[in-house]
Amino acid sequence: MSFEYTCNRRGRFMYYGWPAQQNTNIFDYFPPFFEQKQFDTVIEIGTSEGGFSHFIYDLSQEHDFKFWTYDIENKLRKTPPFDFRNKSAWDGEGYDEIVEGIANGGKTLLLVDGGNKIKEFNLYAPFLKEGDYIMTHDYAPDREYHKVLMRDQIWEWCENVQADLDIYENDLMPAVSWSQQFLNVAWSCWTKF
Ligand SMILES: C[S@@+](CC[C@H](N)C(=O)[O-])C[C@H]1O[C@@H](n2cnc3c(N)ncnc32)[C@H](O)[C@@H]1O
Repeated sequence: MSFEYTCNRRGRFMYYGWPAQQNTNIFDYFPPFFEQKQFDTVIEIGTSEGGFSHFIYDLSQEHDFKFWTYDIENKLRKTPPFDFRNKSAWDGEGYDEIVEGIANGGKTLLLVDGGNKIKEFNLYAPFLKEGDYIMTHDYAPDREYHKVLMRDQIWEWCENVQADLDIYENDLMPAVSWSQQFLNVAWSCWTKF
């Protein structure tokens, strides 16, 4: 599968005309990840302008998983092909749907890229089932790692580090090989044991 995109400014590019706030190297990591790991359900928190959601939606068509995405604001310029839910992922209906989605969605991946990654990770990590995955964007293992190895090279923003995340309390561990690879695009990757 090939993907059409154009770079327009640092940290943001157009995916088939939809803006995505990602490193363009995501195309090297997410497709092989979904090739290797079969998910039944993928839920994203933080749709923004929809480019990344569109990318994951395209992968959902190829790999046959259910995908939906939340944003408290609607920043989409046109009607999306994917299931966009214009509601908060922190409470109310959005919260109930995510908890239910994890409980009954089979093998689940939660993509955490909303307004507060630490809060979102720690809110939903307890509901993950054995074998489920959770990933956070704007991640670095620690601030020093970000300063030395990521800033000005991979990704400018660091909004969560390992010490912020309730890893041990929730029986999470770095996903073998993928956690290291996804650092190249500022995503963490954890799985529940
Ligand atoms: C960093 S942007 C997401 C970027 C997007 N995933 C991408 O790759 O292009 C974070 C988004 O989280 C949204 N957000 C903030 N609070 C939220 C909440 N309580 N529930 C859902 N989304 C929220 C913001 O409106 C914003 O669009």
